[in-house]
Amino acid sequence: VNLQRYNTFGLPAIAERYLALTDVGQLSGEAFTEQPALVLGGGSNLVLLERIPGLTVHVLLSGIESTDGNGRFRVRAGTDWNQFVRYTLERGCPGMENLILIPGTVGAAPVQNIGAYGAEVAEFITAVHAWEYGKGMVELTPEDCAFGYRDSRFKREPGRFLITAVDFNLSERRPLKLEYGAIAEELERAGITDPTPRDVANAVTHIRRSKLPDWFFLGNSGSFFKNPVVERSHYGNLRETYADLPAYPIDDAYVKLPAGWLIDRAGLRGAGNERVGTYERQALVMVNRGGASGGDILAFSRHVQETVAEKFGVDLEPEVQVVGNQD
Ligand code: EPU
Repeated sequence: VNLQRYNTFGLPAIAERYLALTDVGQLSGEAFTEQPALVLGGGSNLVLLERIPGLTVHVLLSGIESTDGNGRFRVRAGTDWNQFVRYTLERGCPGMENLILIPGTVGAAPVQNIGAYGAEVAEFITAVHAWEYGKGMVELTPEDCAFGYRDSRFKREPGRFLITAVDFNLSERRPLKLEYGAIAEELERAGITDPTPRDVANAVTHIRRSKLPDWFFLGNSGSFFKNPVVERSHYGNLRETYADLPAYPIDDAYVKLPAGWLIDRAGLRGAGNERVGTYERQALVMVNRGGASGGDILAFSRHVQETVAEKFGVDLEPEVQVVGNQD
């Protein structure tokens, strides 16, 4: 099976064996005696190389269940993330408005602990249900999941767990998260002084549409690299030359730098060739301009890493997952 339609980068990749998972009952059957090489959800955080050896499992379990009628939900892994966010907002369960419009599935959300505009999915997760290879169905607590910045146990131990459903708690009333500069600007532009969750969702929708390409028209996988964490002393040195370099505090010793800024100031925003490059409006996003292979994406990403390392002495680590073999 060619997975080109099943990854948002639109990269051609042949899965040696492909299985559509539509029922959890399939997990205890014959087909699952092998650890999957790839568990595919929305395919929005992947760079697929030409050949995917072994078993690819496409998680197509979907459905949202309200477990207490009061803000607690059990959601099957293949459910579209954005549809779930909209569902909760429409039913008067705010909380995830900052996470609207993120591509991908509910089952993929905990894997890299998706986040945007000051919120992370880990804040809302109460349990993750998964099939543990060689063991059977398990339920993981948030502590078991070891969530970090765009990170979790699922990302560090690929293939071990196949997430089947995620439990969410949206019953707590939380203050709106408005500290992210772009949200405040957008609300002000719209003349809103006392925002509702719906207003924040609209602001985020507007910001994302203006900065991030729609993969349906231009293949991409969102941010390609993580924002790197560097020592404050290194940041201090860089600030002597680049007075406008932004940074987000982590602790007394470290700060996080915006990778997009570094790539942009290394002269690489909108750079690339006819097949692959960085997006003109957001340098952290790599785009498939047409006909790119996973190999093309990786080669260009190495060029970006080398250029940024040379100019700023900062190493960029991919945020996306690379799967498969090159011919
Ligand atoms: N910047 C530039 N030039 C660029 C891009 C960014 O100068 O080409 C500057 C911006 O002006 C800003 C800073 O870099 O000062 C940060 O940019 P932005 O606010 O757009 O966010 P980001 O750090 O690039 C992160 C997440 C996004 C998330 C946004 C909003 C990571 C790796 N990325 O991006 O997540 O939507 O913040 O919260 O943490 C994703 O993970 O796929 C993703 C899109």
